[in-house]
Amino acid sequence: MIPAVLPTYNRAALSFTEGRGAWLTEAGGERYLDCAAGIAVNALGHAHPDLVAALTEQAGRLWHLSNLYRIPEQERLAAMLVDKTFADTVFFANSGTETAELAVKMVRKYWHAAGTPERQTILTFEGAFHGRSIAAISAAGSEKMTAGFAPLLPGFRTLPFGDHDALTAALDDTVAAVLVEPVQGEGGIRPLPDACLKGLRAACDATGALLIFDEVQCGMGRTGRLFAHEWAGVTPDIMMVAKGIGGGFPLGALLASERAAAPMTAGTHGSTYGGNPLGCAVGAKVMEIIADDAFLAEVRRKAGLMRQKLEGLVAAHPDVFEGVRGSGLMLGLRCRVAPGDVVAAGHAQRLLTVPAADNVVRILPPLTITDDEIAEAVARLDAAARALTAQAA
Ligand SMILES: Cc1ncc(COP(=O)(O)O)c(C=O)c1O
Repeated sequence: MIPAVLPTYNRAALSFTEGRGAWLTEAGGERYLDCAAGIAVNALGHAHPDLVAALTEQAGRLWHLSNLYRIPEQERLAAMLVDKTFADTVFFANSGTETAELAVKMVRKYWHAAGTPERQTILTFEGAFHGRSIAAISAAGSEKMTAGFAPLLPGFRTLPFGDHDALTAALDDTVAAVLVEPVQGEGGIRPLPDACLKGLRAACDATGALLIFDEVQCGMGRTGRLFAHEWAGVTPDIMMVAKGIGGGFPLGALLASERAAAPMTAGTHGSTYGGNPLGCAVGAKVMEIIADDAFLAEVRRKAGLMRQKLEGLVAAHPDVFEGVRGSGLMLGLRCRVAPGDVVAAGHAQRLLTVPAADNVVRILPPLTITDDEIAEAVARLDAAARALTAQAA
């Protein structure tokens, strides 16, 4: 019999009732160290007092307002994002997938307004993940996500990851836009080298194609900069943001330059809940904390510490791990065993991590994780690896 909850997830038999910082507590009282952070969502850990205060203060005043009216919390958060990024304007949504939908609509509208509506192709990359709507799975082009869901949306072309020649050959003046994650998350924590991001910007400039960065997973301080593309010193025309920006409250944002966004006039897009006062009040507090230089410097310092310890772990367990990759606190352990086995062995040590494609286990702790917690996480991974080796012997 089908369960009451549609079984589209392979869920672990774990159920948490409370969270504080980097720790989650099970109903039975067991405490787990959280290096999953809701898949890069709980950027400031669980129950951060400033976020609880921002949410409850707003909840006591006003929950919902239609976008038929001005929403001061939304205007404030938009101004903060515009101030700290390339963007001139922001549309608020409730998830990453919704920002993918708007990105596709914005690209189509842009070329329609330019008088060349036939310019429709959006180039994407193997291993990409942009969400689960029809547009988003069409963009990812991976068999795992698209099987059984035909017909897909036309207008996407998937290129091999990191293949400069393939990109150069494909990026002609029929291409409307290029959509890329500066660091692939679901694809296995695969950073696109800075030189590739720079090359992409230059290639888009040469043909006028719009450049879209999907920073849903790698943005909001995760790599030690507010947004991952800042490391490469280039900016997109459109950027998708979600996950960390709400710190656990559902919130997404599509940021855009005036050039890209200009044709999106009144009536061309909307969302009942997008930009609601609750989400935006929390988002503004998250931005206040994360967009601070000292906070980001601390993320970079802790990321260095964690990476160094993970390199030691890999060296100690060459039968289990192959290497460490990633950027900041968006780290991946490439495994020689099934990543699901490493995640399960972590659960036995009361540690949460996330599997990804390309035989990788993702380490995505809250950005507020302490040095002691980093040491504890790696000690638990070490115990998990020892258990796996003993099992195999
Ligand atoms: C890079 C990226 N884009 C888009 C999405 C979709 O976001 P959401 O699940 O909030 O719709 C995700 C989710 O994991 C993601 O990692």
